[in-house]
Amino acid sequence: MHIGVIGAGQLGATLAEWCAESGHDVAVASRHPERLGGVVDHLGGHGTALPVAEAAAFADVVLFAPNWETAPQAIELAGSALDGKVVIDATNPTVPVLDGPSGFETLMQMAPKAHWAKAFNTLPTAVLNRRRGHDPLLAEFVCTDLTDARQAASRIIRDMGFAPFYAGGAEAARLTETGGPLQQYEVDVFRAQDVLADALTVLR
Ligand SMILES: NC(=O)c1ccc[n+]([C@@H]2O[C@H](COP(=O)([O-])OP(=O)(O)OC[C@H]3O[C@@H](n4cnc5c(N)ncnc54)[C@H](OP(=O)(O)O)[C@@H]3O)[C@@H](O)[C@H]2O)c1
Repeated sequence: MHIGVIGAGQLGATLAEWCAESGHDVAVASRHPERLGGVVDHLGGHGTALPVAEAAAFADVVLFAPNWETAPQAIELAGSALDGKVVIDATNPTVPVLDGPSGFETLMQMAPKAHWAKAFNTLPTAVLNRRRGHDPLLAEFVCTDLTDARQAASRIIRDMGFAPFYAGGAEAARLTETGGPLQQYEVDVFRAQDVLADALTVLR
């Protein structure tokens, strides 16, 4: 697949590298793509750095990992190139959202024609790196209302060496974000169902 990574910092650059290792072609993007040479060097000839809109246009699937504060700007920069694309949101609001839409739902409203999924936001890269490819596989929670987004996120998660675990539709994303019961929760795939069942009591 062609994967566009919008926000190529600690998380985005790591995910970009793992996508390239899996054989995907990767375009990394930030507000300063000319500074991403070091990131591209780790993509083993499978990657390039582009401005945000061009990376989004290149992509079959977008991994969305800018800073939370500037995420709206990233969506604006991508513009209509996100329309119809699967966009996997890995961001976390800087503080817990107590009322109203979750971070994920807020971003969805900003680009309603994108096919959004939430994943890769619960654990720091150090944990992902330590657990990647090791049995029992680490559960990577996926939230989305859309089948194509669920399938694309699941494929990428599997390719990277984790176990996709569907946590529910968009309304479940708040469980995974800052302050939610699944945030920072390191759980292997065999225990994920029990952990999710406990977490879901928050939504009831
Ligand atoms: N780090 C982790 O382990 C981890 C784990 C789970 C979730 N997350 C979440 O992932 C997000 C990123 O975290 P991080 O630690 O990777 O941050 P980071 O190291 O600061 O990287 C952020 C990246 O986003 C780019 N960026 C910022 N604003 C942008 C915009 N408007 N358009 C395009 N690119 C933009 C930055 O480059 P420029 O400033 O040059 O644009 C930089 O490449 C956060 O929401 C965080 O909560 C992080």
